[in-house]
Amino acid sequence: RKKQRKRKMTERTFCMIKPDSVKRGLVGEIIKRIEGAGFTIRAAKLFNVSQEQAETLYQEHSERDFYQGLVDFAMEGPALLLVLESEGAVQKVRDLIGATNPENAESGTIRGDLGEEELPRNLVHASDSIKSAEREIPIFFSESELV
Ligand code: PPS
Repeated sequence: RKKQRKRKMTERTFCMIKPDSVKRGLVGEIIKRIEGAGFTIRAAKLFNVSQEQAETLYQEHSERDFYQGLVDFAMEGPALLLVLESEGAVQKVRDLIGATNPENAESGTIRGDLGEEELPRNLVHASDSIKSAEREIPIFFSESELV
């Protein structure tokens, strides 16, 4: 009989290294921090996000005055799309990224250390809950792209 190995609960989350990071040549630095924090990369692709994908990603903010700017920014150039896995991945990657506005982000965080521009140019997006991750991952990845 197959022995059930006890494993701690792992989570998957969606992360987008945004076009400002790619343009500024920060992909390596950000991936280094992600790997250094113990995440396993389950999927990765450099990708031109479509309008439909950007609108779907940010649909919960569609009534906000910054929505159009946020959508346009996601499509401004290629982004590196990731699926990350670890224990408590959702909160862990958000802690690593820091506060939404780089101006308010603590040093030691990605936005705190590397953020130089105003919103929406805050380098990285990550899902804000397990439910969001489950919604966001399939906007960009098919099941067969996850390793
Ligand atoms: S909020 O205000 O509580 O909804 O903010 P938050 O949940 O952190 O942000 C949701 C996404 O909206 C982006 N955002 C903005 N973009 C442009 N201008 C302004 N003022 C602004 N405020 C929030 C924010 O970066 C979040 O997107 P991601 O891609 O997750 O960073």
